Amino acid sequence: MKFQKSPGTQDILPGAVERWQFVEGKARELCRRYNFREIRTPMFESTELFQRGVGETTDIVEKEMYTFIDRGDRSLTLRPEGTAGVVRGYVENKLFGEPDLSKLYYIGPMFRYERAQAGRYRQFHQFGVEAIGAVDAALDAEVIALGYSFYTEVGLKGVRVEVNSVGTPEIRAAFRDRLLAFLEPKREILCKDCQSRMDRNPLRVLDCKTDQKHFTDAPSILDSLDDECRTHFEKVQQCLTDMDIPFEINHRLVRGLDYYTHTAFEFKAEGIGAIDTVGGGGRYNGLVADIGGPDQPGVGFGIGLERTVLLLEHQNTELPELNGIDVYVVALGEAAEREVSKTVYQLRARGIRAERDYQGRKMKAQMKSADRLGARFTAILGDDELVRGEIMLKEMATGDQRPVAMSALADELLR
Ligand code: HAM
Repeated sequence: MKFQKSPGTQDILPGAVERWQFVEGKARELCRRYNFREIRTPMFESTELFQRGVGETTDIVEKEMYTFIDRGDRSLTLRPEGTAGVVRGYVENKLFGEPDLSKLYYIGPMFRYERAQAGRYRQFHQFGVEAIGAVDAALDAEVIALGYSFYTEVGLKGVRVEVNSVGTPEIRAAFRDRLLAFLEPKREILCKDCQSRMDRNPLRVLDCKTDQKHFTDAPSILDSLDDECRTHFEKVQQCLTDMDIPFEINHRLVRGLDYYTHTAFEFKAEGIGAIDTVGGGGRYNGLVADIGGPDQPGVGFGIGLERTVLLLEHQNTELPELNGIDVYVVALGEAAEREVSKTVYQLRARGIRAERDYQGRKMKAQMKSADRLGARFTAILGDDELVRGEIMLKEMATGDQRPVAMSALADELLR
């Protein structure tokens, strides 16, 4: 019997995982600078949370959730995204009672039953942030700035920021009627997906890649905004301009989740087949109340880490931190062999990356291993050296070697 991973999942192996560690490290470090603190919420939640939070008519809830009944007869769902769980955690733990904003971030797996392709998986990972407790448009801009900085600091080029305002639910309802009046005469020439979206979620029709040619004269939601929405959107743009963050307005940008109000934005880049969205987010002023909390506004984003890593590979960005070791300790002879366990233990305790052989290999094979691991030094311990309390230290780059007192080995390596 042979087992294989499920479709749409990945093994991230040593050699590739270093890029992940780098990207995740950057996300954490950036969040510290922006004063966002980590929150870890469960991988599964009650199904109803996502139905309410993400929205009944979204693709995610209609077609993509991993939902199951547990042994206690509860309907549970593997989280398809991070926002609903974070907001639930914010409400349940009464974070709204604190005097400061809740600026939270998370890194972890999400699950959607989607058709797997390059850049689209069934288990994927997001780096997300959620800032809950303020309506100020400067906070929307801060969240966009954090996302933008993430891409630039991991070394990606060509990431574009697109912004839009999707107004309030009332404004969207009125716009929906205008849009349907425009779309209805075209129904027959639109693709099957668009036809079904017209009935369920007409704003999403504008997102369709194949039918763009039919939408050149489509009404713009920006013309339907009221004064409050317009002022908010203008301030977001002003703040981005002040920070020198390049952006484009895309009045057709509608996100695939229902909770957005006012600002919606996406990070886009070319290089992963047909997929160009690498991250997205926006403001959600009604979500906290919708899932039973107080009337607190929020704004956040989710950035796909698979897509980030794929783009880094596509752009051939160098791995800033290679996985190497400091020293490979080679034992020659039985007594030396016993000593080596102790030696590598002591070196590691001093913060030195040390490795040794466990396969009884000859010296030559061990030296090759040291080379493959990128060891800066090898330390060779023979029975003779052992008697003298010494070890032969060889610098791999130069080939220089000299005996060093065993008791001074760690200090030598740390010099
Ligand atoms: P989303 O647009 O559904 O938003 O997902 C955000 C990002 O997650 C996408 O831009 C993409 O990079 C990545 N992603 C989504 N689905 C997949 C998949 N099947 N395979 C690989 N990557 C994927 C949200 O999830 C919102 N919770 C974002 C947000 C946070 N809005 C406000 N706060």
